[in-house]
Amino acid sequence: MLGLQINSFEVKNFFVQKIGKSTFIWRIVEFLQGVSFSLNYWLFYSKQLIKSKTSITEINIEFVSYCNLRCKLCSLDHEKTKVRMSPNTLKHFFEDLLNDPRFDSVKTIHLYNAGEVLLHPKLDEMLGIIQHYKTEAKKNKRHFPQIALLTNATILDEENASTLINSGVLDNIRFSMDGGNKEKFEEMRERAKWDVFVKNITTFCELNNKSANPIPTGIITLVEYENKLHTKWMSEEFKKLLHMVDGYELRYAHNWGGDVEIEELKNKNKKAYKVGCSLLMHQLVLLPNGDVTVCCADLNSKGVIGNILTENLFSIYRKPLRLEMLHKFMKGKKKEIDLCKDCETF
Ligand SMILES: C[S@@+](CC[C@H](N)C(=O)[O-])C[C@H]1O[C@@H](n2cnc3c(N)ncnc32)[C@H](O)[C@@H]1O
Ligand code: SF4
Ligand code: SF4
Repeated sequence: MLGLQINSFEVKNFFVQKIGKSTFIWRIVEFLQGVSFSLNYWLFYSKQLIKSKTSITEINIEFVSYCNLRCKLCSLDHEKTKVRMSPNTLKHFFEDLLNDPRFDSVKTIHLYNAGEVLLHPKLDEMLGIIQHYKTEAKKNKRHFPQIALLTNATILDEENASTLINSGVLDNIRFSMDGGNKEKFEEMRERAKWDVFVKNITTFCELNNKSANPIPTGIITLVEYENKLHTKWMSEEFKKLLHMVDGYELRYAHNWGGDVEIEELKNKNKKAYKVGCSLLMHQLVLLPNGDVTVCCADLNSKGVIGNILTENLFSIYRKPLRLEMLHKFMKGKKKEIDLCKDCETF
């Protein structure tokens, strides 16, 4: 996708799109993933030959833990306590991150995880905080990660669109548009209304195109397994939106670490002995209350390893619990890790 940063999920989806379900090629891809994990484990953990950097390349920040939709294939537990991140927690995180050059390894910060980012009541203030640190970093010629946002776009009205575009914070923005036509969209994205979604995306693109620095845009489309990962079978109005943005990604559902039952994945090999998980190696997730979990497949905070309000990010990164998970993955003992044993892994 031109102009857009990609993460580990997207790397996997790229391969799904390109090589389909060929078992043989998948074995090769998984073997190469294992080699890459082993090398990183050796460099950053067992031998610690690289001490000036961490293995983390992306951090997800969850502004709020709740969502206005009830998507069929999402594992977010809507009964869990509703928490929103305070501006102070966000400041605390950036101070910690930017004052430790070992985290210059972080290339992208994703403003999404579980929940819906636009529901944060102080969105403007939160983006202002990020903009402050971005400006400071630029002034001091310091590294600053790319900032990417993903939204369900249901409340992306003109006001929210202007807030995002004028913030100067975002390096790319994507919209989630599942299905392939209006009916499937409304079925898969329960509570979302197709007509409102179309209006919001169209308005956003119009305002964005008129702005001095348009943000690169993209769409993620979750497609049911019975359909092919191309657009030929989709409705014209669906395709029109896909072509309104700069790039799109079509994907099949994964099982969110085993939290969601996907019929098509039921009898799939759980890869109990797989060496490595690229998300565990390269990602951390900051939750609204300051907790940090190990990966974005953990939408319900089962893999929390620390809290940035009581310890620094680097000590969380080196937490024995995380090191033990990495070690188990290195030894092919995925099935011994509660969080991961039923995950498809990435
Ligand atoms: C969990 S949502 C969070 C961001 C925001 N609420 C949204 O929907 O855009 C992140 C992305 O995961 C996708 N998604 C939901 N369930 C999925 C599944 N089972 N497999 C793959 N992607 C999924 C959504 O379509 C969305 O693009
Ligand atoms: S996929 Fe996104 S919009 Fe849908 S329920 Fe999950 S968090 Fe909400
Ligand atoms: S295997 Fe574990 S660490 Fe890796 S994505 Fe799944 S739940 Fe996360």
